[in-house]
Amino acid sequence: MGKIKKIFRKTRMFWASKFQKCTGWRITNRVQHGSCPDDMDRFRMSDGFEDPGKWERSLKQAFEDAKTDKEMADVLRYAFLEEDPAASFRHFQELPASGAISRLLAKLGVDKSGVIADVGCGRGHLAYALHKMGHERLTAMDPNGNYFTGTAYLSSLNDHNIEIVNDLCKWRETYGKFDAIVSAGTVHHWQHIPQVAIDCRRTMKPGAYWLMISEFYARTPREFLSLLSNHPTAKRYGSYEWAYPASVYADLIQSVGFKLAGVIPWSYNKNEFLYTPTTLDQQLTRWVNRNLLKSNGTVEAFWNEVDLFRRFRFGPTNYLAPQVMIFQRVGIGEN
Ligand SMILES: C[S@@+](CC[C@H](N)C(=O)[O-])C[C@H]1O[C@@H](n2cnc3c(N)ncnc32)[C@H](O)[C@@H]1O
Repeated sequence: MGKIKKIFRKTRMFWASKFQKCTGWRITNRVQHGSCPDDMDRFRMSDGFEDPGKWERSLKQAFEDAKTDKEMADVLRYAFLEEDPAASFRHFQELPASGAISRLLAKLGVDKSGVIADVGCGRGHLAYALHKMGHERLTAMDPNGNYFTGTAYLSSLNDHNIEIVNDLCKWRETYGKFDAIVSAGTVHHWQHIPQVAIDCRRTMKPGAYWLMISEFYARTPREFLSLLSNHPTAKRYGSYEWAYPASVYADLIQSVGFKLAGVIPWSYNKNEFLYTPTTLDQQLTRWVNRNLLKSNGTVEAFWNEVDLFRRFRFGPTNYLAPQVMIFQRVGIGEN
């Protein structure tokens, strides 16, 4: 038995080194123990706040800071958090993201009369843009009802019929209402992801889809440290942020009655779901168009990449920070 194992290991090492020479990709599962204290030991972030009142006050401070700090002004524009919410709503509508989301919903069978919630909508620019594209039955949900950081600006507009929900008790009493949920840059703010996912699931019809768009990903501990230490609002104002590997979102959400049904990778159709355009990767885009929901399609491609990367730190990385993870509400079975 020992002999067979040895032969198997030698063969694997032989092919791994051949592969490495051909592709330049390094395969390693060697563990380095490092030192203590290291940068992770020195990292302190446990007191990040996720409080609407504090977030509103911080954003007002950010408006002041942005008057003399171009970097902060750019951050506010990029995050659709300008002092003039109307400008941010317009800016968002000019980008391809809402059109891409609307087309993806149609591909999933959710047409313009479908019942859709934007969960963790913040100001609600996505729900508003979808409404302007002709989606008729929208809910914008966020526990934050403030003017600059929550839904009060959207409430103040009289040119839409979007239902606004701030009350978590009301949200938790909503059963089987939505054909689809969309969320953008939101799930990483949930300090207990499965618990909030259960609240979302309850509001969805069986088989309904949840498009989890533009999440905050860190593929490695080093990347996590770099992203968190340089996050503009976490660093300056102490807001709560956390970045996870994509596979963590998949596992946590699947653990409470969802199935990962499709994944739109980085660079698909020039990153149309995100706010950082890339050049067109035609081959990838065509392949995803054909295989989005198929067995042996994008979910398989996602797990293959994840598996190679988390075990050996090598391989392509299109699916490690996907533009959209598509979950479907499924039955919970018997065991
Ligand atoms: C970074 S913001 C994203 C806002 C918006 N989706 C966007 O694209 O700008 C994260 C949002 O998640 C919301 N949030 C926090 N806890 C939540 C919960 N339990 N359920 C729903 N949303 C929550 C916050 O209030 C905040 O508005």
